[in-house]
Amino acid sequence: MNVIETHSYEETELLAARIARSLNKGAVIALFGDLGAGKTVFSRGFARGLGITEPVSSPTFTIVQEYPCPDGAMLYHLDLYRIDNSDAALAFGVDEFLYDKNAYCLLEWPERIPDLLPPETIRITIEHIAEECRRLTLPSDMKIQD
Ligand SMILES: Nc1ncnc2c1ncn2[C@@H]1O[C@H](COP(=O)(O)OP(=O)(O)O)[C@@H](O)[C@H]1O
Ligand SMILES: [Mg+2]
Repeated sequence: MNVIETHSYEETELLAARIARSLNKGAVIALFGDLGAGKTVFSRGFARGLGITEPVSSPTFTIVQEYPCPDGAMLYHLDLYRIDNSDAALAFGVDEFLYDKNAYCLLEWPERIPDLLPPETIRITIEHIAEECRRLTLPSDMKIQD
């Protein structure tokens, strides 16, 4: 595994932006981590990396936020915290977001739908180490651009 520690939220945003630039559209990125780990901070940086300038906040109540990217792709940012299980996610139409080849799909609380995650899902875990320190565990084969 590829383990990286960040020491500020800005560092996590910058890392996420680089990861975004390293991926192709169609990517599904599952962000595992407790409340306050930094999933939304990561998502904000990821959006910046795709060239999205709109403010990004957690779609806890709306479940999904859609952002157009400058290159014509979409970013779907989903927060499944309030979704009980896969059946509820399917009723909500989660597959439309997971399988859109013209979009990046970022998931907070992917543990709600373990059986629905496509096999090629990129799994990232964020752990709270200390006040400003977080440990990100990325797939070992992930190549991150500068
Ligand atoms: N290194 C770091 N990386 C990410 N967030 C950090 C870091 N250090 C402190 N934080 C703070 O942790 C909180 C993370 O919140 P958030 O991203 O909303 O968490 P989550 O979406 O996982 O519940 C923010 O208040 C952020 O400023
Ligand atoms: Mg969040």
